Amino acid sequence: MTAVLSAPSAVGHQSVDAGIVDHDHPARPVIPGLAPVVGADVSVPLAHGGTTRYVNLDYAASAPALSSVAAAVAEGLGEYASVHRGAGHLSQVTTARYEAARETVREFVRGRVDDAVVFTRNTTDAINLAAHITPGDVVVLDIEHHANLLPWCAPRDGRNRARVVPACDTIEDTLVALEAELESAPASLLAVTAASNVTGEVLPIGRLASIAHRHGARILVDAAQLVAHRPVSIVSHGIDYLAFSGHKAYAPFGAGVLIGRRDWFDAADPYLAGGGATADVDLGPRAGGVTWHTGAARHEAGSPNVLGAVSIAQACRALADLGPEAIGLHELRLSERLDQGLAAVDGVRPLRVFTDSTDRVGIAGFTVDGIAPRVVAEYLSARHGIGVRDGRFCAHPLLRRLGHPAGAVRASFGAGTTSEDIDRLLDALRALTAETIREELDEG
Ligand SMILES: Cc1ncc(COP(=O)(O)O)c(C=O)c1O
Repeated sequence: MTAVLSAPSAVGHQSVDAGIVDHDHPARPVIPGLAPVVGADVSVPLAHGGTTRYVNLDYAASAPALSSVAAAVAEGLGEYASVHRGAGHLSQVTTARYEAARETVREFVRGRVDDAVVFTRNTTDAINLAAHITPGDVVVLDIEHHANLLPWCAPRDGRNRARVVPACDTIEDTLVALEAELESAPASLLAVTAASNVTGEVLPIGRLASIAHRHGARILVDAAQLVAHRPVSIVSHGIDYLAFSGHKAYAPFGAGVLIGRRDWFDAADPYLAGGGATADVDLGPRAGGVTWHTGAARHEAGSPNVLGAVSIAQACRALADLGPEAIGLHELRLSERLDQGLAAVDGVRPLRVFTDSTDRVGIAGFTVDGIAPRVVAEYLSARHGIGVRDGRFCAHPLLRRLGHPAGAVRASFGAGTTSEDIDRLLDALRALTAETIREELDEG
């Protein structure tokens, strides 16, 4: 492909520029990346020899680090020492960075001043912590990622407290079904995803929060697929608990967050027992027992993942600097190009849960008639150097419901993605579905 300004492989900072033209396809503008990411220039081997630039279309699994996140981690490493456990200068610096990261996260998701911000390993860990502190019944949809399904299904006090509501064909009917469930019997919590990891469809969080609150329940939002793509406001959406992972938000250092109302955190037993969670331990003859901290520290026993927290904080700052409008516009333009392209490839069928969804983050789930998802994904990798995800995406009930119990393919993208990346996928799918390739695969 040639262009007046070539689409940079290590992407530039400039915002989407409709004036740059793809000379091979003059009707199609070149869409550069929105922000530089680490690894944009990596070359990978091809099955028939040679190498090519890797096209990462698996952001929904783990997004590449923003360059500014990598720089913040390098800086943090250079001054690294123990957190909360040392009087030395570098311990103080590291502790200050860790605690400041909580405030950056709180600000980024517009949390309440008295919300607890707990660093976890990832979203799965955050929702397991939420399950640990939540009293009473929980209402969930059947379209959730397992991370927001299985923690609620574990028996509590010998009974199952998860009330699973089948999603309907429309978002509107699904809201009605959820309201009916909450009306039918008291529940403590409605736990719902903000954006599907299979289809990218975005749910109306503010309306869901109002429904939960009308019936005396709180709401937990699984924002794993949302925070890097759309603005989130705990206060204005009325969210009680929000969970997300750093590695899906350009901060891939094994940390996540659960933020929310303090009272349930303080009332629950510590999630992990150990150092850092305790104010006092007395096991002597007149033992006072263990006095646990309140707030975030109560559930963060052990030495924390300070670089994970630092990287999340920097990702939050970088995403705020890019701005939700620019991020939304970038993804919209890439989505339109991908959707139009996919619609023109024979046998490619997009996945949707709802017929009335109007917003999707940068995720396109699809199947290819007659070709197993694993074959599609392996072909894209081996022949074209393109990384997508295939399988059931840790959402088995949803894939079954969509009529694809054996799985599907998912392309997902974000700030570092260019129109060239999208076009490479479309060209590869066209080649795959062309008769000759199909025959070759059948024979192989
Ligand atoms: C919507 C959603 N929730 C939760 C998770 C779990 O995230 P993690 O693997 O970081 O715990 C994912 C991961 O794909 C997800 O997409």
